[in-house]
Amino acid sequence: MCGIVGYAGKENALPILIEALKRLEYRGYDSAGIACQNGKGIEIYKTKGKIKDLQGVIPDSLSGACTGLGHTRWATHGIPSVQNAHPHCAGGVVVVHNGIIENYRELKLHLISSGCEFSSDTDTEVIPHMISSHLKKGLSFYEAVKEVTSNLSGTFALGIMSETDPHTIYAIRKGSPLVIGYGVEEFFIASDIPAILPYTNKFIYLEDKQLCKLTPRDIEITSLNGHGCVPFGDKIVQVDWSPSMAEKNGYEHFMLKEIFEQPEAVNNTIGEWIDHPERLLEELNLNLKMTVGLGKLDIIACGTSYHAALVAQFMIKNLARIPVHVEIASEYRYSNPIVDKGSLFISITQSGETADTLAAQREAKSRNAKTLTICNVVGSTAAREADSVLYTRAGLEMGVASTKAFTSQVAALCLISIGLSIKRGLLGVLETKGLRSQLAKIPELIDKTLMKTEEIKELANTLSHAKGCMYLGRGIHFPIAMEGALKLKEISYIHAEGYPAGEMKHGPIALIEEGTPVIVVAPMNELFEKILSNIEEVKARGARVIAVTDEPERLMHRVDYVIEIPSTHPLLSPLLSVIPLQLLAYHTAVLKGCDVDQPRNLAKSVTVE
Ligand code: F6R
Repeated sequence: MCGIVGYAGKENALPILIEALKRLEYRGYDSAGIACQNGKGIEIYKTKGKIKDLQGVIPDSLSGACTGLGHTRWATHGIPSVQNAHPHCAGGVVVVHNGIIENYRELKLHLISSGCEFSSDTDTEVIPHMISSHLKKGLSFYEAVKEVTSNLSGTFALGIMSETDPHTIYAIRKGSPLVIGYGVEEFFIASDIPAILPYTNKFIYLEDKQLCKLTPRDIEITSLNGHGCVPFGDKIVQVDWSPSMAEKNGYEHFMLKEIFEQPEAVNNTIGEWIDHPERLLEELNLNLKMTVGLGKLDIIACGTSYHAALVAQFMIKNLARIPVHVEIASEYRYSNPIVDKGSLFISITQSGETADTLAAQREAKSRNAKTLTICNVVGSTAAREADSVLYTRAGLEMGVASTKAFTSQVAALCLISIGLSIKRGLLGVLETKGLRSQLAKIPELIDKTLMKTEEIKELANTLSHAKGCMYLGRGIHFPIAMEGALKLKEISYIHAEGYPAGEMKHGPIALIEEGTPVIVVAPMNELFEKILSNIEEVKARGARVIAVTDEPERLMHRVDYVIEIPSTHPLLSPLLSVIPLQLLAYHTAVLKGCDVDQPRNLAKSVTVE
C-alpha cells in the first residue's frame, strides 16, 4: 500500500525523508515523490520506479528545507507514472495520501465544472483542489480540512503542507494507518513505525478524524468531531524495537533474516506464560465465567494469519473442546455473522492495520461480541480497538511474506488453547506439563530444522522450473500445506495449491502428470497411514513427491525426496513442518531471480478493503 512520511524540525529534511522512504520500501510500491519547503516555496519531485530513481531527479540545490513530505505509491487509480505519483498539488496545497477516496468521481466532476484543472488520474488529486478552494473562500486551515474530510467517503491517511505555512505539516487519518513520531524539536509522520525508527522510539497513533499540526516546536492534535484540542501526553507509546531490526544485518533478504529469527520470536512470545497459561487468560480478562460458559469461538484473519487461525482451530477443539468457527476476514463482515451471547471473537493480525480484519473486528463488536486480538504491533489499530490484546513478540517483520509472525501466532494460540483447557477443567496444570515442556523446546527444534537450509536450497533447483505445484496435508497440517503454497506463489510466482490430501481424488488429482511437484506435509500422527495412501495415489500418476516428515524411514522408499524435521507433540508439529516450506519458497524465488522482499503486486500491510 502507499507509504507516507513527513518531517518538521530543524534538520535538513531531504535526507531524513529519503531514509524514511527507503525504510518503507518493504511495503511494496511502484513510484515515489517528495515535497520540501525551503522558505522560498514548495518544490516537488516525483518518479516512477524506486527511491534511488527519485534521488536521481532531485537537484543538489534542494537542501536546507526543514519541512517536507514523502510518498511511495502503490497504484490503485491510474497507472504507475510521474503524473500519478504523489505529492499532488493545487493552489499551493500539497497532499500525500494512503487509502481510497470512493466518491472521487463526483467530487472531481464538480471541481472541473468550477474551473479546476487536473493533471493526474488519481482519486487523491481532488483533495488539494478542495482544500485550496476552501482556503480561498477564507476558511482557516482547520476549517478547510474539516469541511473537506467530512465530504470524503472511503479511507485516507493524509500528509498536507501549504505554501502559506512554511514550517508546518499536517496529518489526518480515517481508516488508514498513520503514526506521529515524537522527537526532540523534531516531529515526524509515517504510515508505519519502521520508517522513522532511527529518529525516535516514541509514537502517537492518531485516532480517526484527529488533525495533527506539526512544527519544529511541538505538535498539536485537534479533534475534527468538535471535541477541540486533544491532550496526548498519555497517548505516547514507546516501542522497544531497535533501528537495526529494520535492517538486514548481513542477510540477503529480510525474509531470510526473519525465517532465522523464528526461534527467538517464538521463545519471546511464549515467555513466562508457559508455566501458567491459565493466568494469561486472566490477564486477557477472560475470567472463569467467560471461559467455562464459552459457547463458540470465532477466529478471523487474512492470508498467513488465517492459516494460523486454522491451526488454532485444531488445537482449541482438541484441548478445550470448544466449537471454533474460522473465517476469512473479508468474508466475515458480509456473512451476517451469528454472535451468540457468551461467544468470543479473536482476530489475528501481524500488523494490526489490515483493513478487512479491522472491519470484521468492528462488525463483531457492533454485535456485542467480546473481542480479543492477537497482534504483533504495539498500539496498532486492532490492539487499540479490541477489548483485550495478546501481543506476539516476533519483533519487527519487514518481509512482505510473513514468516516469524506466523509461528509466533501459532505459539500464542497454543498457550490460549492450553489455558482454556485448564480453565474449563479438562486438563489440570500438571496434566499439561508434557505439552508445555515440548512447547518450550520448540525454539530449539526450529533452530535444528533451520540447519536444513542448504539441503533445501539444492532441492529448490528442481522446483524453480515448475509450472505449478501441489501442497498436501491432513488434519492440523492441511493449513500448513496452504501456507506453504501461499509462500511459494507470493514470492516465486509459481502457481501452487494447498489441498487436504484426502480430497485429491475428488477432483484435483486430474492436475497430476509426469513430474508434477507435490509437497506432502506428513509428520507422524493419527493420519499418517492415511497420508501414505494419498502419496501412493499421486505417485501412481507420475508426481514427484517431496515429503516433510519426522518419520524418514517410513517414507524414504515411497517418495522422491524426504526433508526430515524433529519429532514433537502432534499439536505442535506445525511449528516445525512450516519451516522447510518457508525455506523452499525462499530459495526457489531467489533462484528465479524474484524480488523476495517486495513481490510484485503485494504490500506488507493491506490497509484498503
Ligand atoms: C502472506 C502475508 C499476508 C498477511 C495478510 C494479513 O505472507 O503476509 O497474507 O498474512 O495480509 O496481514 P496481517 O497479519 O498483518 O493482518
